[in-house]
Amino acid sequence: MNQATELHKRELRPGFGVEITDLDIAVADSATRAAVVDAFSKHGAVLLRGQKMNPDDLIKYLSAFGELEGHTQTQFTLPGYPNIFILSNREENGRPIGAHNDGVGWHTDFSYKDKPVKCTMLYAIEVPPEGSDTILADGCAAYEALDAAKKEQLNDLVLHHSYKHFMETRQYGGTKLSKEMEAENPDVFHPLIRVHPIDGRRALWVSTGTVKEIVGMANPQGLELIDELVEFMTQDQFTYRHKWQVGDLLVWDNRCTLHTGTLYDDTRYIRTMHRMWAKGDKPYGIGEVAA
Ligand code: SIN
Repeated sequence: MNQATELHKRELRPGFGVEITDLDIAVADSATRAAVVDAFSKHGAVLLRGQKMNPDDLIKYLSAFGELEGHTQTQFTLPGYPNIFILSNREENGRPIGAHNDGVGWHTDFSYKDKPVKCTMLYAIEVPPEGSDTILADGCAAYEALDAAKKEQLNDLVLHHSYKHFMETRQYGGTKLSKEMEAENPDVFHPLIRVHPIDGRRALWVSTGTVKEIVGMANPQGLELIDELVEFMTQDQFTYRHKWQVGDLLVWDNRCTLHTGTLYDDTRYIRTMHRMWAKGDKPYGIGEVAA
């Protein structure tokens, strides 16, 4: 099915994400691509399996979601394709071709930016037979599961996100930021409960790593509340664990999810993925309007 907007869908888990079957997205028409984006906006994630995508196909596909985002670690972008970032433990001529274990730890991408990315796409090129799953957590389901008093406590809270804090304290390879990088990435403030611009649904929009504090709350209590909320949101009942196959193309909505990569035996297996992002808007909370 390549020229129809009636998609064949099944949920990835009850109430979250969809797999779209019988679709070769590389040759789909623009109406079909728009229908896939619509499914993504409503369901939080879209999976297509068995795809054969060259770099231009990937760019065409993700461009339907929005303008493409670049990356600061340009040494790991695909030659000639600055918007395609390589995740890999493969080495060629004694040098790594991609970033390794780049996304391990619960987070939402670019939460330290004023306008974090709308979505993340991973395309599986080489996958280990075990490990290296990507797990997505549904922030809307987690928010709806909170009791009324907890919602009331959280509804107006604002988080202080910091790239400097993130880079200096990250679990796999903390690094000190240069003054230039620090100036390019000033701290930002985002709501803890994010309103989805498509339909107004509310998501618990917490993250690890970039959150330095909850505004108006002293640490360690603030960061303890963050840990408590991440633990709550990432319980099995709110998560989808994706087991990769070569040719999988998964896009998730960073406006209402958290995600994490998982480890694998990198002494035995190779994992290579192409990762891309589409730009997003400024997040807003309950009672606020889109900027
Ligand atoms: C990411 O966090 O962007 C990557 C996750 C993964 O490699 O599974």
